[in-house]
Amino acid sequence: MGEPESTGSLVKYYCTAGNGMERFLIAEVKKKLAAEDVCQIAGKVLFSSSVAINRVSELKAAERLFLLLRRDSPVHLSAHTGPAKAASVLQSRVLGDVAQWTGAAVTWSRLQGELSVRRATGEKEQEEEEEEEEGGSEEGREEELSRRTCGVKAQRLKRKRDEEEEEEQRPERKTGDTTDDHGTRPNRTKPEPSVLAPPTFRVSCKCTGPLTRYFSTQEVSRVIGGGLSRVLGWKADLKNPQLEVNVSLSDDHLLLGFPLTRLPLANRSYMKTTGLRSTVAWALAAMAHIQPGSRVLDPMCGVGTVLIEAAQEHEAVCFLGVDNDDGQLQRANENVAFAELPHRIQLLKASSMMLPLHSSSVDAVVCDLPFGRKFSTKTNMAANLPLILAEMERVLRVGGTLVLLLTPQLSCLLKRLLAQKDAGATCNQGAEPPTGKPRRPSPPPSSTEQQTDPVLGGVKPPRTQETDSALQYGAPPPRCSMEHQETLRVSLGAIDGLLHKYVKTDS
Ligand SMILES: C[S@@+](CC[C@H](N)C(=O)[O-])C[C@H]1O[C@@H](n2cnc3c(N)ncnc32)[C@H](O)[C@@H]1O
Repeated sequence: MGEPESTGSLVKYYCTAGNGMERFLIAEVKKKLAAEDVCQIAGKVLFSSSVAINRVSELKAAERLFLLLRRDSPVHLSAHTGPAKAASVLQSRVLGDVAQWTGAAVTWSRLQGELSVRRATGEKEQEEEEEEEEGGSEEGREEELSRRTCGVKAQRLKRKRDEEEEEEQRPERKTGDTTDDHGTRPNRTKPEPSVLAPPTFRVSCKCTGPLTRYFSTQEVSRVIGGGLSRVLGWKADLKNPQLEVNVSLSDDHLLLGFPLTRLPLANRSYMKTTGLRSTVAWALAAMAHIQPGSRVLDPMCGVGTVLIEAAQEHEAVCFLGVDNDDGQLQRANENVAFAELPHRIQLLKASSMMLPLHSSSVDAVVCDLPFGRKFSTKTNMAANLPLILAEMERVLRVGGTLVLLLTPQLSCLLKRLLAQKDAGATCNQGAEPPTGKPRRPSPPPSSTEQQTDPVLGGVKPPRTQETDSALQYGAPPPRCSMEHQETLRVSLGAIDGLLHKYVKTDS
């Protein structure tokens, strides 16, 4: 990735992030956006950046992106304040300096303009590319057409649908005075910034702490909305507003902002069927420290979310996804085609308990182990975890990274298992075969299986019969070569997941 390109104007943003994702987002904004003044409050990361809005809108660890209007100290009301006084205190604290609101609306409008220019440019480039390709040979044209039929076209349709929905939300703009009071200077090389005709707006409010003793969320929205209409002349429109005003009031802060995209950043335009939460899949891959030229395996890839997130981030890397379920593999294939990544992501039907790969043949293993109802599986995870772990360990090269996403229960089990293996290693010292290889043999190679794979070189084709049940009784290798690096808790919505990172040592 090159240096982030600066537009010369520093804009203040904040993003929402799932629980546990804040640290990934902080690292990402610093790395990709050369962000300044980065700070975190519960579930949000605030920062300033002068990098173009299109780069900001490509953040992967964020849920939603907002233009920051103001972060302030919390609104406190004394226990004896009556309702009328409370409403007036709330209104004046939230409204604050009126010029800040108009300045922020101008910046918001300019950023919306830049986002739509980017969309239009992207579409034009795509059309030109296609026209060029259509001028090529008959054979090439056919091949390209069939590739694109399930990829680009579908993707463009999806993007278009999303954009049309966004377009409906955008305010009418007129050009004119370009002064921006929001502490930002308009960029002369970009389309002219615009001044909003008084926009229609709606207030979205999240209120926690003592304020909830005085007001319901709807009452807070009404009080603030009334103030904005009166002071700024903005018109409230609850159904189809041009501008959404986000207000977050808590014990800890008062935070005001305008969303910059209607759809969350976490909705990926390149995914057809979604699996694991995209931000968490991205974080899982980010923890694996994937380097150019690496070979990366997901031995339980499902619809391919982790692989696609990783492949979007790392260009010169080859990926292999394994799953034992035909339906999941079909969806993964469709997703990979839709994201236009079939040249870098290969998919294979096999069991993660008998991986058709040579020992020490991959640089990183990333895996979201199945749990819950959504991914109900024939594999008994608790019973088979030792075997699955042993296979991952076997195929990983020394120095390679293993990152697993587990439920709290499986996480405990894994820790116990590794502790046992450590203890076992001490007891079994000297009992290893002279080769130092694990006791359980690798999948027996047959001459017909020894084909070289275009992606992973040493990969063998899948075995024809599932051997899960027979393997249930295989003992895990007695040595523990996985060194624990870190464990992080992230929210998966209804439940939490634990991200475990290990590095394979040569012990
Ligand atoms: C939690 S899901 C993975 C979801 C994936 N991260 C995604 O976003 O789609 C776990 C996957 O493991 C697969 N699976 C279960 N047992 C398996 C086994 N023994 N070998 C290979 N895959 C297995 C299931 O078919 C399922 O697709």
